[in-house]
Amino acid sequence: MQTALTEMFKLKLPIIMAPMFLVSNEAMIQAAMRNGIMGTFPSLNYRKEGELEAILNQLNNYRNTQKCIGNFGVNLIVQQTNPLYKKHLETCIKAKVPLFITSLGNPKEVIAQAHAYGGKVFCDVTNLEHAEKCASLGCDGFIAVGLGAGGHAGPYPNMILVPALRKKFSGIPVIAAGGVATGEGILSMLALNSAGVSIGTRFIASTEAQVSQEYKQAVLDSGMEDIVLTERLSGTPCTIINTPYAKKIGTQQNWLEKWMSRNSTTKKYFKMLIQIRGIKKLEEAVNPGNYNNLWCAGQTVELIHDILPCETIIANLEEELNQAWKVLSNNIN
Ligand SMILES: Cc1cc2nc3c(=O)[nH]c(=O)nc-3n(C[C@H](O)[C@H](O)[C@H](O)COP(=O)(O)O)c2cc1C
Repeated sequence: MQTALTEMFKLKLPIIMAPMFLVSNEAMIQAAMRNGIMGTFPSLNYRKEGELEAILNQLNNYRNTQKCIGNFGVNLIVQQTNPLYKKHLETCIKAKVPLFITSLGNPKEVIAQAHAYGGKVFCDVTNLEHAEKCASLGCDGFIAVGLGAGGHAGPYPNMILVPALRKKFSGIPVIAAGGVATGEGILSMLALNSAGVSIGTRFIASTEAQVSQEYKQAVLDSGMEDIVLTERLSGTPCTIINTPYAKKIGTQQNWLEKWMSRNSTTKKYFKMLIQIRGIKKLEEAVNPGNYNNLWCAGQTVELIHDILPCETIIANLEEELNQAWKVLSNNIN
């Protein structure tokens, strides 16, 4: 199977294992690379001094010595409210990271620096306006973050966002993120002329993810109606499982928080503060035995029924994709 994504990184399958804060880890990325897909992680999963540099060296080394048929990438929050942005960008550039996924903010610096050594930059976009900005800066692809995605889900379904991006920016590959957890889902996104898919939530229920068993079980036990958008974590709406704790704290910011995140003098610092508070809350929640359950996940929880090794998840996706293609071809003939 060949798409702009598989050709760009010499992949077996047009799949990105999506970056997931506090969930993505080295074992998951290694499994992705071994099995012919792109493994990605947020740089913010490695916040202690020297951690990011070490993991990047390990991943470069793993890919080169293990004859991997996949590759890896790093997600950078390119917003000024990310205090580690400059430092993490410098570390990634030094390690010649093959793919950057930028979210929020302006990707100009990342694009210029990555292109200098042949690195690629895909930008998370949820609407055409932000896509226009990224396209004018020379991004190599869009991650169309649609309705129902885990994390900062967009307002539009990918059935509309993907073709809209394809039409407006015809030369730029589009990867569909959100709502895909099966081979049938992948096929439907390829039918929209996307270059592939970015899958997050399915990989939370993997044996390699080092989050608590309770979190993984909640992914299996929840349905799409259990996913709500909350402003309480980072200020930007983010999808979480509607646990009793999530219900207790509510999903909206109070009037003072809203005012402080809009006021021009307090905005930057308040957003930083909220993000640090959100990170702390999420960090506590992914550990075992924590009762303040704030667990990020997308609507595909509806489709996930087992905790499996990443290798099996990827093999199943491939098998289901082939099967879905056969069924479709038979139905058409
Ligand atoms: C637990 C979790 C954490 C996430 N963290 C990030 C992140 O740090 N940066 C980012 O750009 N996207 C993040 N996302 C969004 C994913 O990269 C991806 O766009 C999304 O998971 C795709 O939708 P899906 O969950 O339906 O597969 C996160 C998603 C989840 C489920």
